[in-house]
Amino acid sequence: MPVRRRRGWELCESEATPEGVFLRRRELLKAAAAGSILGPGLFSLPAWAAEEDPSAELYPAKQNPRYTLDRPLTAEKLATYYNNFYEFGSQKTIADEAQALQVRPWTIKIDGLVDKEMTVDLDDLLKKMTLEERLYRHRCVEAWSMAVPWSGFPMAAFVDFAKPLSSAKYVRMETFLDPKVAPGQKQVWYPWPYIEGVTIAEAGNELAFLVTGMYGKPVPKQDGAPLRLVLPWKYGFKSVKSIVRFSFTDKRPVSFWETVQGDEYGFWANVNPDVPHPRWSQATERVLGVDARRPTLKWNGYGEFVAHLYDGLEKERLFA
Ligand code: MTE
Repeated sequence: MPVRRRRGWELCESEATPEGVFLRRRELLKAAAAGSILGPGLFSLPAWAAEEDPSAELYPAKQNPRYTLDRPLTAEKLATYYNNFYEFGSQKTIADEAQALQVRPWTIKIDGLVDKEMTVDLDDLLKKMTLEERLYRHRCVEAWSMAVPWSGFPMAAFVDFAKPLSSAKYVRMETFLDPKVAPGQKQVWYPWPYIEGVTIAEAGNELAFLVTGMYGKPVPKQDGAPLRLVLPWKYGFKSVKSIVRFSFTDKRPVSFWETVQGDEYGFWANVNPDVPHPRWSQATERVLGVDARRPTLKWNGYGEFVAHLYDGLEKERLFA
């Protein structure tokens, strides 16, 4: 039976490290890189700041103007230093720890109800996909939000590539499993690896986006390199990071957080200001980098794209 533990992303705001501290830390890193502070040996840059990515020349990708924002973009230094990635710790500052993850070579297994099971190298997959940039709102179940320029390709294009059988009703996704590089995975009370799932209809929706880049560069490890999902109308925990496996199935996948705490984190997890989390309100959100809260939008503002997916499912716990 899973142990009931408070997760870091359940911190109340008064307990969270102020954003200024994160930003200051990043500024220090930049200043150190520029050689303007401290001498050698006193302060060294993290190795990842200089690491080369073999797909770097694919960025920036052309922006798709169809997806517009109602707010300014979140500063890159905030979006890439305020993370949830439990494999590397339950605090927000896991960027340095996440650099232990080797993202090349990276292979992705496609199995289950498909024409032909296969394993594909990420860079080979990238050659078959057309990358684009999209500006999306990103809303965490903890009631904070960002606005991020993601780069990647529609999940629908990946589904076409995978050739599922007509009997496939869901896509189950799995993150890497390697406790040697991800110390969080040594915490045996969590059901590793991280699992998420969507229906085939959700996967085929135009908003569902497989992300390989961010802010015009390859996506950093702490944000889910080299391949993560982004579903902007759902709470962020559905957006599984560092995916190694896609399984097509006729059974509804049970996600990581659903296994840990099923009465708080359901399968659908659609953003809805009118349905509170059992322990806090979802009516408003803290926009990171801005000194104010703003009202949360139903479907995170993407109802015109996705509301129809849930017709007839009113009896489901759509928003938990
Ligand atoms: N994916 C994995 N593998 N592990 C995680 O801990 N956290 C989720 C999601 N994907 C998580 C994950 C949660 S709770 C959120 S809000 C988003 O990633 C955060 O994405 P970001 O750090 O890029 O903002």
